[in-house]
Amino acid sequence: MNRLLALPLLDFLRFVSICALAGLGAGHAFGGERPLKGGEIKPAVLYHNYCSVCHGDRGDGRSRAQGSLNPPPRDFTAAGELTRSSMITIVTHGKNGTAMVGWKTQLTDREIEAVVDYIRQSFMVVALDPRLQRGKALYVHNCAVCHGERGQGSTHPVGGPVLPRNLSSPQSRAELSRERMLGSVTHGRPGTAMAGFADRLSQQDIEAVVDYVRTALMVPTSEAISGVRAHGGRGADVAAAAPKPAAGADMRLPMPMGLSGDAQKGGRFYNANCATCHGVKGDGKGPRAYFINPKPRNFVAAASRAALNRPVIYATTSMGKLGTEMPAWSKVLSDQEIADVAEYVFTKFIRPGAKAVRK
Ligand code: HEC
Ligand code: HEC
Ligand code: HEC
Repeated sequence: MNRLLALPLLDFLRFVSICALAGLGAGHAFGGERPLKGGEIKPAVLYHNYCSVCHGDRGDGRSRAQGSLNPPPRDFTAAGELTRSSMITIVTHGKNGTAMVGWKTQLTDREIEAVVDYIRQSFMVVALDPRLQRGKALYVHNCAVCHGERGQGSTHPVGGPVLPRNLSSPQSRAELSRERMLGSVTHGRPGTAMAGFADRLSQQDIEAVVDYVRTALMVPTSEAISGVRAHGGRGADVAAAAPKPAAGADMRLPMPMGLSGDAQKGGRFYNANCATCHGVKGDGKGPRAYFINPKPRNFVAAASRAALNRPVIYATTSMGKLGTEMPAWSKVLSDQEIADVAEYVFTKFIRPGAKAVRK
């Protein structure tokens, strides 16, 4: 599998270095202005656009590029020794002998600092905190056998009919307060294989392991951002309620939730973030399209023009598209910002010149 993926990736790397040689900023080469130029910097968007392809959506180096690069991209979750300033230097100038190129022609100093801080806050929290490191070691030793290395639980009953809980599920995130977890780990759950740890772990250690689970495992999965539908949460209802793309969709339908999009604002975001795949002209021929399969949607094709109305565009932009590289933007954009960019796609490519509708 990696072999198949390696080729397009190398093409992409070649593309990046050609751009660098030609003195083009990627912002330029990627078919638009840099994300949110001049405005507020959104480090999650920067990371997602420029770094996750190699370092992974969770910063753990688990990306499609992983198998084809030597050395592989850095796993930030295990990189507690990296200082902020050494990271800034490498992101600015690159790292010799690796696929890590310098980003100084594409990103401003402020953007580089912001994306480094984002990585440190989102992916390195455990690595940077000795107490959580201890919690991690305790988890691996005492809990992973039943709850899985990533907290995913087990499908096999262990020592009783009740399955070890999937700690990373949205349901667990909603139900398990820190207090409840401390109680369950201290005293166990009667009638299940979940024994109390009060006789084996100190109160401090129980707190450390619970806080590790909460920080590192009880987070939305990487899939939520890489295109596999997240369960629950804002946007899920919208996606479920929205009509599936089908020829002959009702093109008069408004945005969901009474939103009305601003196509002008949406256009700026589109050119900075969507055009890399979908193309400035909406024809699916953005520079990243070459190494993606299935190809990004061509919005000006007849099939798209018959199927993609406002609610559908809104829902797919928000939730991403299962099994494709189409990211779920609800992680980084507000409802209104999604409506803006969806309005732009609709009025620019699907129905050029369509008037804004208001509910
Ligand atoms: C084409 C793949 C690729 C992309 C894209 C990429 N990186 Fe890297 N990155 C790597 C590789 C490979 C290494 C080197 C790992 C090593 O030396 O062990 C690395 C190393 C790093 C390091 C230094 C770690 C160390 O060991 O010193 C930082 C920090 C970093 N990357 C941040 C970023 C940021 C921020 C972005 C986005 C702006 C980014 N990377 C984009 C592949 C990539
Ligand atoms: C022998 C298997 C096993 C081991 C080891 C184990 N658990 Fe569990 N755990 C379970 C089972 C089974 C449940 C489901 C109990 C239930 O639903 O009431 C559970 C439930 C939980 C819950 C949810 C409790 C609740 O309030 O609903 C938490 C939190 C938890 N485990 C954390 C841990 C931690 C932390 C460790 C390590 C210190 C650990 N578990 C070790 C089997 C295990
Ligand atoms: C990394 C590449 C990539 C980026 C960036 C990207 N898309 Fe996509 N997009 C895709 C792919 C791949 C598909 C799926 C095409 C298919 O299934 O045939 C897709 C599909 C879509 C669809 C059609 C959904 C459907 O059901 O067919 C819409 C609408 C869409 N994207 C909007 C956007 C918007 C708006 C943005 C920017 C906010 C964006 N995309 C950014 C790759 C991308």
